[in-house]
Parts: sequence; C-alpha cells; structure tokens
Amino acid sequence: MSGVRVSRRRFLGGSAAAFGGLTTGLFGASLAAQPKAPPLARPLSTLVPSGPLDEAYWWKVRGQFNVVDGLTFMNNGTYGPTPRVVTEALARYERELAEDPTDNYRNEGRDAVRARMAAFVGAQADEIALTRSTSEGMNIFIRGLDWKAGDEVVYCSHEHGGGIQPLQQVEARYGVKLVKVEVPSPPESVDQIVKIYERAMTGKTRLLMVSHMTYVTGLITPIAALCGLAHSKGALISVDGAHPLGMLDLNLNATGVDHYAAAGQKWLLAGTGTGVCYIRRDLQDRIWPLMGYADQKAVHDPKSTSFGAKRYELGGQRNVPSFMAMAEAIDFHEAIGKKNVEARVRQLSTKLRGGLKGIPGVKMWTSEDPQFAAGLTLFSVHQIPMENVVKAIYDYNRVWIRTMTTGNLNGVRAATHVYNMPDEVDRLLDAVTHVAKNASRYMTTTTG
Ligand SMILES: Cc1ncc(COP(=O)(O)O)c(C=O)c1O
Repeated sequence: MSGVRVSRRRFLGGSAAAFGGLTTGLFGASLAAQPKAPPLARPLSTLVPSGPLDEAYWWKVRGQFNVVDGLTFMNNGTYGPTPRVVTEALARYERELAEDPTDNYRNEGRDAVRARMAAFVGAQADEIALTRSTSEGMNIFIRGLDWKAGDEVVYCSHEHGGGIQPLQQVEARYGVKLVKVEVPSPPESVDQIVKIYERAMTGKTRLLMVSHMTYVTGLITPIAALCGLAHSKGALISVDGAHPLGMLDLNLNATGVDHYAAAGQKWLLAGTGTGVCYIRRDLQDRIWPLMGYADQKAVHDPKSTSFGAKRYELGGQRNVPSFMAMAEAIDFHEAIGKKNVEARVRQLSTKLRGGLKGIPGVKMWTSEDPQFAAGLTLFSVHQIPMENVVKAIYDYNRVWIRTMTTGNLNGVRAATHVYNMPDEVDRLLDAVTHVAKNASRYMTTTTG
C-alpha cells in the first residue's frame, strides 16, 4: 500500500471545523476554511464497559476523537488529541467566562478538580498542585529545595530538558553537583538499574531525579525500588512522570515517591497548558513555593492545614478553562477504566513491537519486557537518518511519529494510545517494512 490519501474535508465522525481557526499543522490551511461544527460528543456513559472490550468497543472510544480522517497519529508522547468531551468543555468554560466573568477564578471548581485528580493518581487532595506542564512541576520541587554547595543529584542521560533545566539552575546558583548515569537500552533487570544509581550515590547525594518513563526509549523505571534506595540513604526522589499519567494505572501514595510531576496534554488527553505536581504532605514544609502563593503567612502557619500543595500553584490569574477541563479528561479515562486504558495501550504497543521485531533491518531500543515498557516504542531502520525515516513513513502511509535526538540512537518513536486502532499499527508496520526494504533510497534522500 502506498500513498494513502488523507481527506482534508472529513474527520472520523466529525468535520474539519473542530479545529476552526487553526492555520498551522499539517492540515491547517484547509481546516480553517471548513464551516461546519463537529457532532457533539456522545455521552461518556456509552464508554462504560458492559461487555467484552472487543474492537467494536474500541471503535466507540475512537469515535470520541476528531482526529482528521486518514491521519494515523502516533505521537501522543508529545501531545495527545483531546477527546470531544474535553474539546467541548474547553469551549464551554471559555464561553461561560466571556458571558459571565463574576466568578472568574473558579476557586471552588479548581478545588474540585484537584480532589478528582488526587483520587485519579492515588494521592490526597492536599498533595496535588495543578500546574501548566511537567516542566513547571519539576521546577517547583527541584528549585524549591534548600540546597547547599556540594550537594549531589544523580540523574540519567535519558532525562528530558524539563527535568534537567531546574537541575542546571541549582548547579549554577548553589554549586550543586550533577552526577549523570547511563542505563542500557534495554536494561537487563530492576537490580541492574538500582545498582547503577546506587554506585553513583555518595554521602552527599540529596536527590535522585528519574523519569517514571523515559521519553527516549519509553523505559519504565522501577520508581518504587529507586525510592527505597534513595530513602535508605537519606536522599529524596523526584520523578518526572510526563508520560504515565493517563497511560499507566498510577497509585502515587503506594510508590512512596516524594515528588511526581506529570503532563495533562500527553496521555491524559487534557489539552495544552495542563499538568500536575504531587508533593508528599510531610515534605511540604521543606519545599519553598516557587512562585509565591497569595497568602504566604497562612501557608507557613504550622497550624494551618488548609493549603497543602495548593501553595505551589500560582496565586494569580490562570487559564481557567484548561484547569477545569482536566476533570472531563479524568471523566473520559474513568468511563473506560484506568486498568482498561493501560491494558489497551499495552496491547497495541505489544503488537507494534512484535511486528517491528520481524522486519529485517529494524533495531529496537525499547524493551520487550512489559515491566520496562508500555506505550512508547523507539526503533531504528538500518542506518537510515531518523528524519528520513519519519518523513518516509508519513509519505508512504500517513503515519505521524517523531525523531529522537537525545541518546544519539538515531531512533524514531511511536506512541500508541486508546484512540489508535490495530489497523493503524499495521499501517505503521507496513510503512516500516517498505522503508527497510528500500533502505538505499532513503539513506540520503527523503523522497520516496
Ligand atoms: C519525560 C518528559 N519530561 C518532561 C517533558 C516536558 O513536558 P511539559 O511540556 O509538560 O513540560 C516531556 C515532554 O515531552 C517529557 O517527555
């Protein structure tokens, strides 16, 4: 199969006006011209499983998205399309604020979202700050600690800039020493990973900074084991959880981690400018608010229990629709069921990795062991430059994945989420087979 045509006029069950006004992106120019509104979201109650979770069920889930017809989108690891229920909620909150701005802070509404988020991730409401991104959550914790010169932090070479940048700030500002470790892709065992971190720790190590799932190979890091290691040596653990929120069935209290920063715009499908920062309750008096909450006196009153992690949220005006619509994203996940979401993500990515393994010339960097991998898969095709692989796959079958520069693996990364269908995985495998078979054509040129 080659050259699948993408309809610029139709969405899967919707019309292009879902992105009304959009003028960027692959389909931007033509979408802006589309006049009709998309159909309204079907009630989420239709997603509550009442029978087997077969492909007919997953088509109903897929029917909740307005992804353009013909596009197989597999870069949820960067940004996920919002389901209709979220898209509509965002528009509704925007409209409500425009029509009646009397309650423009929506403090009670945001408290309710915070409580819902806490239950969703297995935490207490006073351990959750609603943020604008993972990076904000990483900065809140790392830059909120009291550092002194000579303190050490251990982190690995596959961390994302969102976590590394606050570390570099405290390195430059306080003389903190950053110690980088290498974890093999893929690793052999949990024990091997724990030992790598353990060997890098000294009496001065105050923090382990780890991704729960690395954005490079999608490695699931054993955070509970690393948490045990950190605590046994008097250190804290800060977790970059940009990916697992909305992908894995999280229970943060059970892992024992001190800090967990996550994204709303990725696997939670909550749209841009959303995130979560978890800080264990008994640690909060040691972490300075980065941005200054409105009532500092009350925050630091040891008798006051009313603030909790809310102290880490910016006290001023925020994007209220984005914060409020996180609740609809949670509704979406809970209608399907967190365990069912994780199982479907794993089912699709297992199919993908199984198929990739059988294509001559494909090198997989992501583990096949389910304890080390879920929705992200990194692979290379012969020695073809990764930019060429991404372009060739898109040109051949309209499957959108991404390159990965970090780690120097010359890899491309595919993400599978609940809106992807098995035949889309086949489309990707079909395109990869074509690229691998015609490798010489793609070594230096990107036209196919
Ligand atoms: C592992 C990881 N951490 C942090 C980030 C930054 O996320 P955000 O844009 O939510 O700050 C990303 C984004 O891709 C990521 O993959």
